[in-house]
Amino acid sequence: MSNAIEYELKGDIAVLRANNPPVNALGHAVRSGLIAGLERAESEAKAVLIVGAGRTYFAGADIKEFGKPLLEPGLPGVCTRIERSPLPVISAIHGTALGGGLEVALGTHYRIAVPSAKVGLPEVHLGILPGAGGTQRLPRLVGADKAIEMITSGRHVSAPEALELGILDEVEEGEVEAIGLAYAQRILDAGLGPRPVGQMPRPEVVDFDTAYEAAMKRGRGQIAPATAIRSIEGACHKGIDAGLEHERNLFMALLNSPQREGMVHAFFNERAVSKLPELKGVAPREVSAIGVIGGGTMGAGIAVAALLSGLDVTMIERDADAAKAGAERVSDILQGSVKRGKLTNEKFDAIMAGRFRASDSYEALGDADLVIEAAFEEMGVKKTIFAELDRVCKKGAVLASNTSYLDVNEIAASTSRRADVLGLHFFSPAHVMKLLEIVVAADTAPDVVATGFALGKMMRKIAVRSGVCDGFIGNRILKTYRTCADHMVLDGASPFEIDTAMTAFGFAMGPFEVADLAGLDIGWATRKRLAPTRDARERVATYADKMCEAGHFGQKTGQGYYVYEKGKRGGTPDVNVTALIEAERRELGITPRAFSQDEIQRRYMCAMVNEAAKVVGEGIARRPLDVDMVLLFGYGFPRHWGGPLKWADLQGLDGILADIQSYAKEDDFFWQPAQLLERLVAAGKTFDDLNKGDTV
Ligand code: CAA
Repeated sequence: MSNAIEYELKGDIAVLRANNPPVNALGHAVRSGLIAGLERAESEAKAVLIVGAGRTYFAGADIKEFGKPLLEPGLPGVCTRIERSPLPVISAIHGTALGGGLEVALGTHYRIAVPSAKVGLPEVHLGILPGAGGTQRLPRLVGADKAIEMITSGRHVSAPEALELGILDEVEEGEVEAIGLAYAQRILDAGLGPRPVGQMPRPEVVDFDTAYEAAMKRGRGQIAPATAIRSIEGACHKGIDAGLEHERNLFMALLNSPQREGMVHAFFNERAVSKLPELKGVAPREVSAIGVIGGGTMGAGIAVAALLSGLDVTMIERDADAAKAGAERVSDILQGSVKRGKLTNEKFDAIMAGRFRASDSYEALGDADLVIEAAFEEMGVKKTIFAELDRVCKKGAVLASNTSYLDVNEIAASTSRRADVLGLHFFSPAHVMKLLEIVVAADTAPDVVATGFALGKMMRKIAVRSGVCDGFIGNRILKTYRTCADHMVLDGASPFEIDTAMTAFGFAMGPFEVADLAGLDIGWATRKRLAPTRDARERVATYADKMCEAGHFGQKTGQGYYVYEKGKRGGTPDVNVTALIEAERRELGITPRAFSQDEIQRRYMCAMVNEAAKVVGEGIARRPLDVDMVLLFGYGFPRHWGGPLKWADLQGLDGILADIQSYAKEDDFFWQPAQLLERLVAAGKTFDDLNKGDTV
């Protein structure tokens, strides 16, 4: 018998103990071990207990096996085999019973868990549906509506809630195997036999069509949640065997879909992205107290993220009034967390009374282990601040700038300790957004980089390493695809058509909606900053400058590309913008042409991929996966495509290069193909090959 399942006979009860660290994923050895264990138990025991060694019950199928040939026994067969055992089979659950893990538990006849355990069917987050009976057995226990909610959200359900829903039979404090054995003994003592969920009555029919439509809408192109609803529907109409077969067919279609590949790429790489080979064995510096320079939206958001991760924070503003306003901003955000039930009143009081202070004096930073500057985005301002930090901060303190564009080498040069300086680029609102770009300058010491990543982990961010360039990874790529959108506008598309096309692609928002949200003055300032060094061949749209000159900065002024009415969510297209665009086209002698949704999406994505390939080719991002995670966690890129470079792999790089070359016939300055892309196509390789260590 495989070592992945340990077998032990304890009196009348055979214990099948999973031992497949770290999370007891249900790989081939575990599945065959379960079957073998069950067979042996049926020859010598009266009941079977399935339990996990280590930190958890089964956390799911082994995701690493997806996309490889399926090895028998498959998980659906294992669950059915367990369900059909003549002996009562009991699950004792601790940690997480997720996906295939919960499906195994649903195949067993009785389920007990410790109170801290969590169960759930999160398969839709991997682009698939529960394919081992989850869509058939769960609704028989909880009803179709609840099953739809759990499966389409993929949420983790706590043991007490699972008990209430009928997923668990008992919840008991204690060591998991001990409570499982005692429960199994009670079942034997009571003379209870197998109780197969699959033989329970079918769930009642609910309004599946409405649920399907809603899931399609919410999914923004992701098909797994809606497909799962059709599978649950099968449970209402079919017996268990036919229902399982229906589920299997839908599951296999999803398993072989590009969306599953994109989602699994996201799953593994959000974990891989912060593990840098060069930081192996490099200890981060100790950080318990940090300073934040600036109490505006960004500074306050960073302060809150730090406070919520247990750090002490000193905020510095230019005078007492500004310090007070900054402190109020911090307090307001934290109060919001209290209102949403994420923070208790006691914790709020403790933070504001003991762990947070605002000051107008840099001297207050003497004890700070790390300081994050989030002041006005101008080099002169940054240099003055860093000179001050150099003066007041203790030796070994890490000095970070939250700049979004500026040269971190130049900022570092304004101190006498370049090795301690790096960029920590948060995304607004900083206490919500997951992405943190860790910008490594020429002289940044490895343990300072490690400290940046350690801080990211404390704050539960997705931290990505970036080199120094204008805009780093994310904003540099954003600038390029936004420019592509502007070119399409000049040539005949409307900003509203582009937003519609890109939300249909799966983005949370289109580029013009994003601009309105961020404030149009930001882009305006960047354009002015870059104007002196702009290449004469660059096509620049100026209608947005005219909007800014008229004081239209987007949502904050009530008008931008869209008009925003007080109290209403979202905006309506501003006709004045259309007039400005038409005037600019006339001035430039452009006869506008129609753009289909497909063409808008293709050009926009080609621009993004091409710039991303340049960012990787230049070493600004070390690996394609770094770019993918930046776009997923900072820019609303649809997760089911895995990121722009995974998307590109899935489309075929040769087709993308060919399209870029054809667009270059109109504008060979903007559409210069990335050399890395050309090399990959020539070698017949993908971006993902580079993630795996290949070179071209
Ligand atoms: N398969 C393979 N590897 C897995 C895995 C799985 N199901 N779940 C986690 N791992 C790996 C992670 O990649 C990670 O590896 P590295 O250390 O090499 O990076 C390691 O296990 C530990 O994982 P985390 O860092 O995520 O640990 P955590 O304690 O923060 O979280 C967890 C643990 C909640 C179980 C989380 O890992 C998780 O959510 N895993 C996925 C669970 C899931 O989606 N299960 C459903 C699988 S699909 C399925 O079962 C299909 C079906 O119906 C047949």
